[in-house]
Amino acid sequence: MASSTLICDTEAWKDLKGHLEEIKHTHLRDLMADTSRCQSMMVEFDGMLLDYSRQRATLATMDKLYVLAEAAHLKQKIGSMYAGEHINSTENRSVLHVALRAPRDAVINSDGKNVVPDVWNVLDKIREFSEKVRSGSWVGATGKVLKDVIAIGIGGSFLGPLFVHTALQTDPEASECAKGRQLRFLANVDPIDVARNITGLNPETTLVVVVSKTFTTAETMLNARTVRAWITSALGPSAVAKHMVAVSTNLALVEKFGIDPNNAFAFWDWVGGRYSVCSAVGVLPLSLQYGFSVVEKFLKGASSIDQHFISAPFDKNIPVLLGLLSVWNVSFFGYPARAILPYSQALEKFAPHIQQVSMESNGKGVSIDGVPLPYESGEIDFGEPGTNGQHSFYQLIHQGRVIPCDFIGVVKSQQPVYLEGEVVNNHDELMSNFFAQPDALAYGKTSLELQKENVPQHLIPHKTFSGNRPSLSLLLPSLNVYNIGQLLAIYEHRIAVEGFIWGINSFDQWGVELGKVLATQVRKQLHTSRKKGDSVEGFNFSTATLLKRYLEASSDVPADPPTVLPQI
Ligand code: F6P
Repeated sequence: MASSTLICDTEAWKDLKGHLEEIKHTHLRDLMADTSRCQSMMVEFDGMLLDYSRQRATLATMDKLYVLAEAAHLKQKIGSMYAGEHINSTENRSVLHVALRAPRDAVINSDGKNVVPDVWNVLDKIREFSEKVRSGSWVGATGKVLKDVIAIGIGGSFLGPLFVHTALQTDPEASECAKGRQLRFLANVDPIDVARNITGLNPETTLVVVVSKTFTTAETMLNARTVRAWITSALGPSAVAKHMVAVSTNLALVEKFGIDPNNAFAFWDWVGGRYSVCSAVGVLPLSLQYGFSVVEKFLKGASSIDQHFISAPFDKNIPVLLGLLSVWNVSFFGYPARAILPYSQALEKFAPHIQQVSMESNGKGVSIDGVPLPYESGEIDFGEPGTNGQHSFYQLIHQGRVIPCDFIGVVKSQQPVYLEGEVVNNHDELMSNFFAQPDALAYGKTSLELQKENVPQHLIPHKTFSGNRPSLSLLLPSLNVYNIGQLLAIYEHRIAVEGFIWGINSFDQWGVELGKVLATQVRKQLHTSRKKGDSVEGFNFSTATLLKRYLEASSDVPADPPTVLPQI
């Protein structure tokens, strides 16, 4: 596409706009009655089943979306990503998270160099190091085994590993491998998060992994200095060498911080922070907790989707279908949000992770060529596991706003429970809801049906459900570490597909910068006010008033305090 051409100017987009008017006159009740349509909207891959028949789409819609994909050069864009082209043009970088989980013998080039051997060098180093720590051949400064790990990082250096860790905690194989060990995540710069993370841990048996792509993120670096103080105040400065390691692309700053470069695990600037869970960012802490051989299966799961994404035709390609349908919902129907509803408590941190992957990637205001977008990109992602969400925000989803929903279900529970005499086992009870909710959204309940049930007239408007609310269902065979890798990659690629169609750069994040700059100015002010009593200057009336109130009300904070660590 020429640099200023936007996807909304293409015939394919205009055709879909016209088609939308036809679709608006359909109801999912009627669309669902067409069995051959529904059959065509089921896709299977590697044991999982995607059912998108409850989308407000016909087969003609899908054909038009494939034409849109062609107009957006989707296939070429996916190819360019895998070929290591600098598709993150504002940062002049390749986007190669697929290389992080590629088989050892794969060839994936960035700037003329095959990056796969570098990836495997780091993976081999992680395998070796994590085995040493787990087996007790690498011990802490006082000779004790390091059985607890605090991973310090934020955003992409936190959310993905937390999601995977949370999902693995109840997996029988993984939990067996993690016996006697703890993995904690310290992300927020709030000292309360420090307190929560160090409470109950002994510095003598704790290994700290500082995870930061840049090694400059203010929150992470202050947390790293704080936990370093916790270690050194108990064990002396030399303990850092045994108790602190790092994951970063900036090895020079790691060394400057005082961590031995031999204890640093590299990754590369062609890995976006939010796409980094398959790099040392996730693989190191997770291998320390579960062992490398478990984590390797996670990489294999993600890799299986990478192969599928690059090779499957679009009408059988799960990430492509999901991405196109999201564009249809956001850009044509104008639905601004997407609910991610895993019917598995193990996936409770999935939606928070996808929030970053999706909203940091696709929440943009200009095209990749800098042209202001006359349409919205991105969506508001949120979610909770079922059935908890049902007792929280589903009221709005059923009778209030229309929010396309992703229902994610699992055939075999990680932790089956059977109670003698119960109607169904506990997982069947959970899954009854997974199967029921999409139909409730799609079909709704009419006033006629309510009348037939003798519902009092005055309650009929309150008990009516309009239905026609789109959702899709993804049924996974189980939730083992391989499936968790697959799920991650499906969403990563789906989000890339959306960005490719919208014509934006899904791999930069300039929108997070301004707030950081303004915080620097506030930090300086707090420093000089506390240390020298300087008055608050250079802020607008509102911020100045708030700052003054804050400083006055906390005037007991010492100007030059000694180190004080949380005391709980
Ligand atoms: O929030 C902005 C951001 O740059 C994210 O993109 C990134 O995941 C996070 O900060 C953490 O960055 P780093 O890994 O460099 O500490």
